[in-house]
Amino acid sequence: MSTQLGVLAMYMPGRKLEELSFYRKLSVYGQKLGVDVFVFTPDDVDDNRSRIHALAYNQATRSWTRRWIGFPPIIYDRCRYHGADNYRKITRFRQKYTKLRYLSRPLANKWNIHRLLSENENIAPHLPSTVHYKNRKQLEQFLKKHPIVYMKPKSGTGGRGIVRLQRLRGGRGYLMQGRDAERRILPATKVTAARIPVRLAGWGLQSKYIVQQGIPLELKDGRVHDYRMLVQKDGQGKWQVTGCAGRIGPPFSVTSNLHGGGTAISMETMLKNRFGTEEKVKSIKEAAYTLGLHIAQHLEAKFGTFCEAGIDLAVDPSGHVWLLEVNPKPSRDVFRLTGDLQTYRKAIRRPIEFALHLLEKKAAPKTDTKLLNLAPQSQQSESH
Ligand SMILES: Nc1ncnc2c1ncn2[C@@H]1O[C@H](COP(=O)(O)OP(=O)(O)O)[C@@H](O)[C@H]1O
Ligand SMILES: [Mg+2]
Repeated sequence: MSTQLGVLAMYMPGRKLEELSFYRKLSVYGQKLGVDVFVFTPDDVDDNRSRIHALAYNQATRSWTRRWIGFPPIIYDRCRYHGADNYRKITRFRQKYTKLRYLSRPLANKWNIHRLLSENENIAPHLPSTVHYKNRKQLEQFLKKHPIVYMKPKSGTGGRGIVRLQRLRGGRGYLMQGRDAERRILPATKVTAARIPVRLAGWGLQSKYIVQQGIPLELKDGRVHDYRMLVQKDGQGKWQVTGCAGRIGPPFSVTSNLHGGGTAISMETMLKNRFGTEEKVKSIKEAAYTLGLHIAQHLEAKFGTFCEAGIDLAVDPSGHVWLLEVNPKPSRDVFRLTGDLQTYRKAIRRPIEFALHLLEKKAAPKTDTKLLNLAPQSQQSESH
């Protein structure tokens, strides 16, 4: 008998689903592993009758069709926030259906993740110095300590609203470059420290921003680079590094995100180009892998189990590995783009294998979804 996996998604304008091609692949792998994948959004849930009007992929006709289903035994939450309306809907769903089993969950914003991870002595040496933006004075002091500084919105994604400040020689101020909230590249300009908050007026620095030590990541041609690692739970419920790949930002960009025009390259090629010797490459790779696993384990201890995280890492010119960001809903495109299809396929398969592992573990007492407590939970406010 096959089992069901529900994918919780979100409609974009025009009732489009953002990651439909990923869900299609998930469905195809699901079939092979005896799992029926259903995709739905909070809009498709009939609360009164505890049923969902979900999409299922039909391989024979290569099309998506809708079916009414009961609540699936496990849910892969892929919702990313796009505007206040969607945010309200998804928060309501998560709060109403706390008793469902989730394969993935929202973690926390960049600032709270930073604070949680700094508690761990294995991870702390890999965290760039970071503060929450307070005021001009604090920023000026931070700029005196670090020749490169990044300012990032703590709940931002895809390289939006990120500014890099680079100290110019001879006390000539700072070079400010970045991307606005719509991810448009801001041309480089020279500023004084005092002018920075003025230039970024309206960006919500005090409520939304963290200020972070910048890691020097410019390549010889001026483009920046970093690495995206995917850590996932395997079919035995153990954390594994599924893969890691390099990303190179487009010219004039201070971010390397693929959606912002970045290109993907294998981690080995990238490290070999920068560090030459096999030994050094091997030791950096090992440090990065160990760090990735420590991060996943630490976050799991804090938030409860989840199936995967996309970890943005930087390697500075000395070979030290730094954590830039943890993504709870990672894309796996980087492996398709480097042509590492084996890793790409593994990255799609693993959440299904882990779902099966969780369901097998829980198989003993049969749960009837109708008996689950689906009553709304008391309103919790998100700590953004
Ligand atoms: N401290 C930093 N030092 C150097 N580069 C950084 C730093 N923080 C971010 N970046 C660059 O900006 C990109 C986006 O930053 P990130 O923190 O991952 O936010 P987002 O959620 O927008 O992806 C990174 O992939 C990297 O290229
Ligand atoms: Mg990122």
